[in-house]
Amino acid sequence: MINFFDPASDIDLGTPARDSEVQVSLNIDGRAISVPAGTSVMRAAALLGTSIPKLCATDSLEAFGSCRMCMVEIDGMRGYPASCTTPVSEGMVVRTQTARLADLRRNVMELYISDHPLDCLTCSANGNCELQSVAGQVGLREVRYGYAGDNHLAEAKDVSNPYFDYEPSKCIVCSRCVRACEDIQGTFALTISGRGFDSRVAAAGGDNFLNSECVSCGACVQACPTATLTEKSLVQIGQPERAVITTCAYCGVGCSFRAEMKGDQLVRMVPDKNGGANHGHACVKGRFAWGYATHPDRITTPMIRKHIDDPWQEVSWDEAVSYAASELRRIQLKYGRDSIGGITSSRCTNEEAYLVQKLVRTAFGNNNVDTCARVCHSPTGYGLKQTLGESAGTQSFDSVMLADVILVIGANPTDAHPVFGSQLKRRLRQGAKLIVIDPRRIDLVDSPHARAELHLQLRPGTNVAMLNALAHVIVTEGLLDQGFVDSRCEAAEFARWRDFVSLADNAPEALGPICGVPAEQIRAAARLYANGANAAIYYGLGVTEHSQGSTAVMGIANLAMATGNIGREGVGVNPLRGQNNVQGSCDMGSFPHELPGYRHISNEGVRAEFEQAWGVTLQPDPGLRIPNMFEAALDGSFKALYCQGEDIAQSDPNTQHVTAALRAMECVVVQDIFLNETAKFAHVFLPGSSFLEKDGTFTNAERRISRVRKVMEPLAGKADWEATVALANALGYPMDYRHPSQIMDEIARLTPTFHRVSYAEIDRHGSLQWPCNDAAPDGTPTMHIGQFVRGKGRFMLTGYVPTDEKVNSRYPLLLTTGRILSQYNVGAQTRRTGNVAWHAQDRLEIHPSDAESRGIVEGDWVGIGSRAGQTVLRAQVTSRVAPGVVYTTFHFPESGANVITTDNSDWATNCPEYKVTAVEVVRVSQPSAWQQRYQAFSDEQRRLLKERRHSDQPETAEVHR
Ligand code: SF4
Ligand code: SF4
Ligand code: SF4
Ligand code: FES
Repeated sequence: MINFFDPASDIDLGTPARDSEVQVSLNIDGRAISVPAGTSVMRAAALLGTSIPKLCATDSLEAFGSCRMCMVEIDGMRGYPASCTTPVSEGMVVRTQTARLADLRRNVMELYISDHPLDCLTCSANGNCELQSVAGQVGLREVRYGYAGDNHLAEAKDVSNPYFDYEPSKCIVCSRCVRACEDIQGTFALTISGRGFDSRVAAAGGDNFLNSECVSCGACVQACPTATLTEKSLVQIGQPERAVITTCAYCGVGCSFRAEMKGDQLVRMVPDKNGGANHGHACVKGRFAWGYATHPDRITTPMIRKHIDDPWQEVSWDEAVSYAASELRRIQLKYGRDSIGGITSSRCTNEEAYLVQKLVRTAFGNNNVDTCARVCHSPTGYGLKQTLGESAGTQSFDSVMLADVILVIGANPTDAHPVFGSQLKRRLRQGAKLIVIDPRRIDLVDSPHARAELHLQLRPGTNVAMLNALAHVIVTEGLLDQGFVDSRCEAAEFARWRDFVSLADNAPEALGPICGVPAEQIRAAARLYANGANAAIYYGLGVTEHSQGSTAVMGIANLAMATGNIGREGVGVNPLRGQNNVQGSCDMGSFPHELPGYRHISNEGVRAEFEQAWGVTLQPDPGLRIPNMFEAALDGSFKALYCQGEDIAQSDPNTQHVTAALRAMECVVVQDIFLNETAKFAHVFLPGSSFLEKDGTFTNAERRISRVRKVMEPLAGKADWEATVALANALGYPMDYRHPSQIMDEIARLTPTFHRVSYAEIDRHGSLQWPCNDAAPDGTPTMHIGQFVRGKGRFMLTGYVPTDEKVNSRYPLLLTTGRILSQYNVGAQTRRTGNVAWHAQDRLEIHPSDAESRGIVEGDWVGIGSRAGQTVLRAQVTSRVAPGVVYTTFHFPESGANVITTDNSDWATNCPEYKVTAVEVVRVSQPSAWQQRYQAFSDEQRRLLKERRHSDQPETAEVHR
């Protein structure tokens, strides 16, 4: 295990690095150094190994110059300038250690300590407190003023936040927390209230941290040099002894963390300042919501049962795996080779996804493998491959810092990709312009010190019309980058597209009324995007989860090509991936038609390569997609499923259809850390491992492959990849991997875009962005430079076809769904953490006018009915949604959000149309019939789990027949 708990690897250089080609030479304490222009004297000294005492400075924040601890002497300058706020200059001569400076620093420290509790020995920060260290550094031995004067020692603690405490008696009013909240997080939740002696940190918008505007990202806790803001887990467990660098297992940003450990116990997750995606920042999920990993609900023993209404029976791994294998083989013998399949997980590692698809193609002998990307970003894969030639985003997150115009469509980064959301807001505060295209008034539309220039609040389901109208303006108003198009794109396809979007039918005046957006706003947005020197598009599931999801993705790529906004930093087409490893699970060949690296299964040459490596004959035709598996199950031709780390019974649309399909199968094998909704229909339960319990890699939305490192042993005894290996062997297909690095070596051998990827190379670089091969040994942060992956970029026609899902007098409202910051996807992890303090149930957002006309007030129970089903939620009356639109999240299974969503899906990829469902909403007083049935079934399944027979009980053998 690589131990990164070397304090030298995390030295705080006091002020941020400067990027300048101009080098400045100076002399510090008799030693010469050259640093980039703009560097502070403090940082230059730290680079020489000289630590100047500091309290208010830290290298993640711009210097503030308030504590006066860092005074130095500089030839030619009067007094004692603060080294943190003084930039270096050519020929400067600096002294950091003189008797006079030592006196001055001791005097300053004396004042701080006279108003500070002297409980160092029992303080949670003891041994890891900057105030304590600096007191030692300046040699403070006595406090001449005593401790009896006015002080803050009796001030009450604020313990309201589930994850950190605020203890004002320890505050030195250095403002690091306030600046972290402003500069790093961009929430502006903290202020220093009062003046002089009365100064104190206050959280805005509430009487304590929990009720305030704070979003609990932890940046202030990280920045605080004392124990004033401290993680509760640190107080409870004590100072960590070691740290391991790993990657967050929540969203597609892929933040890097130091998992700080005491023995085998995780003390805290600290964002890694060397993390390529997050640069030391985090959000409430990755930073704090990791308690689920050791939650008592974890199931750590394999279980089997013959019928889903039987009690579970605990068995050994060997028994569970051989039972699963015998059932899979029995079913294939009876119903045919194609009667079984598998689902890979975007929450598991690349190596695990690779193994599951390999198991299906080799041991199952078919291509019936799919992944949860089917229901989120499969249109991204299709649309970008068609237009640009590669199924992935084009940029690094850092690229946004060079964007002049940012177009966010169908994405809500501050909730779903919070660390990127903070970076985007930082760029907006620097002056970039923002266009938001979204049915809801998401936070980015109007956040502190960052506001959208334009918010096009379109009707759900009209993205393609909107994109065509934008393209119309760009073409007809002469805003094309003709030089780029001529040199980089296919001429005939471009001409066809240009003629198509120029039609009057595609003018904003024609399409604006369909979108519900004034034509002038659309024209203004098109001009702003096309005229921006660097214009970048960021999009999410609000684009893909539509009947025309793939068309919209191609429409976005068309816009970028037409304006020359692709192939350099600051621009590009950037899908914001939902789950941690959606990109990776797709890369690994999880789709039924593609082998790893997006190579079509029908390609004989590619198949031959894999056949040779895997020692089998591969089927040349694509297998079943997830929705086809459900159809086939209901037809009686698909009878068994191996589902790893995915909860299709909650996450997939039209729940009643999905559960009927699961009930129709004879063997459902679920591998998960909890008894999730799908596991309630399972016959074999293989206990999964959390990201803390295994080695592997995740690939984030910028194609960045980062290491996941084991910090504790798997609670169930096997990591997920080991369970798949065992199942393959039990099925008679030998797999013999000793470590996930060997799996990655195989992936690299067989996948051209991964040829130079290995654990050693990832460790050397910190992370690697694919393509990473002989042509790009250090990886590829920006794609399509010089030429597109497919050669010339291809414009695709994007005719707008309205969805079949239409409002009428029976279903007059449009429901759209999404996420909230504190919860994650199906909620299986975050519902088992303190994050429920912010969001303990899903609610239905409804506009005040729609609520009023239905007699609905805030908090009422409301029934939501669609053509697919009914459910009941509490109402939240808000003008965040437009009249005619309602919105909910889907984090709680009992909410039944997917009972309402329909079977409509993207024409190219079957990605469900979660974002558009015609509904009616009425006040009700009791749960829906589905919810009552769900509750009864869930209660029964919980009883069957609770009453499970343990492995030492003799009935075990019964199930084996
Ligand atoms: S936790 Fe984050 S949002 Fe909350 S006050 Fe601290 S920096 Fe601001
Ligand atoms: S809470 Fe911490 S970071 Fe904030 S002003 Fe007080 S000591 Fe400084
Ligand atoms: S932004 Fe995403 S990857 Fe980063 S800490 Fe939050 S959930 Fe984890
Ligand atoms: S560290 Fe420079 S003034 Fe505080």
